[in-house]
Amino acid sequence: MKTVFIVGNWKSNKTLEEAKIWLEDFDKNVLSLPIVENQKIIICAPFTLLGYLKEEISTRKLPFALGAENVSAYPPGAYTGEVNARQVREFADWVIIGHSERRIKLGETDELLEKKAKAAKEENLKVIFCVQNAETPIPQSVDIIAYEPTWAIGSGKAENAEQASQVIGKIKQNFSNLPVIYGGSVDPDNILGFMKTGNIDGVIVGGVSLEPVGFTALIKRIIENKD
Ligand code: PGA
Repeated sequence: MKTVFIVGNWKSNKTLEEAKIWLEDFDKNVLSLPIVENQKIIICAPFTLLGYLKEEISTRKLPFALGAENVSAYPPGAYTGEVNARQVREFADWVIIGHSERRIKLGETDELLEKKAKAAKEENLKVIFCVQNAETPIPQSVDIIAYEPTWAIGSGKAENAEQASQVIGKIKQNFSNLPVIYGGSVDPDNILGFMKTGNIDGVIVGGVSLEPVGFTALIKRIIENKD
């Protein structure tokens, strides 16, 4: 049975207090779900929340892994304001690299993203690498590829599942051994359409992951689909 990835992308959202409220609600709801081995939930959160979330995942034995939203391309040292892969690895197993918001709004280039992926790998951080189409360059040794058409992100208009599946099929021609997931306005109502196409190995979810009720509903849909 193939692994299905459900990645929550909190982006630049939530204070510590807000994360505590989210976790209480999520914990209550998720405990009633029969999550099985092949469903992997990864919550990606800002650096400021990783220490708290790591602690809670361990004490409450929550069924998800932790990811960071970003990582420095540079090693420890004189890079004021950067958070390097060694530091991130203390808290998280995963990191998102190549998100279109960082490419477009923060000017991250393919070259820089390649360096970030390399720096992450050197510290055994697993990489969720985002691409905007089948032509986006993908560095070697990433762990998950996330196909996210820019126009679908945060717009409430997800791509048609068949079209997403076609692009993902194209990506898989060169990366047949890697899981490829879809992102862009995924919600509890459209999730099953994506999961039913054979090509798509999971989803990356922004807006809906911020609300524990909606996020749990989405996870539930996937579980029910598998039954
Ligand atoms: P969205 O974001 O679900 O809010 O569209 C997805 C993402 O940016 O990863």
